[in-house]
Amino acid sequence: TYVIALPCVDVKDRACVDECPVDCIYEGERMLYIHPDECVDCGACEPVCPVEAIYYEDDVPDEWRDYTVANAEFFAEIGSPGGAAKVGVYDFDHSLVAALPPQTH
Ligand code: F3S
Ligand code: F3S
Repeated sequence: TYVIALPCVDVKDRACVDECPVDCIYEGERMLYIHPDECVDCGACEPVCPVEAIYYEDDVPDEWRDYTVANAEFFAEIGSPGGAAKVGVYDFDHSLVAALPPQTH
């Protein structure tokens, strides 16, 4: 799977959403999350993010390793909706993200 990391927080450019052929990039309050079971590893999202927040799971920088877990755990209670467009924006974030101070970029 691919993973969205810290640079997305409080940016949410959403260019990645338009590229994903399976609509598996879901929006939380402060960042977006890739569903690890729905992502088909097409990689189309990675180059379009203007803040380079997206990485293949094996390439996530060490400092952002926690985001691999956070992307997966975000869906613990959501499950697998099978498409982000129909569920809209969730009004919460993973605890790792919710605890961050406002990010300025
Ligand atoms: Fe975030 Fe980059 Fe997508 S800022 S919403 S991961 S294009
Ligand atoms: Fe979609 Fe990116 Fe995966 S475009 S299928 S989330 S690699």
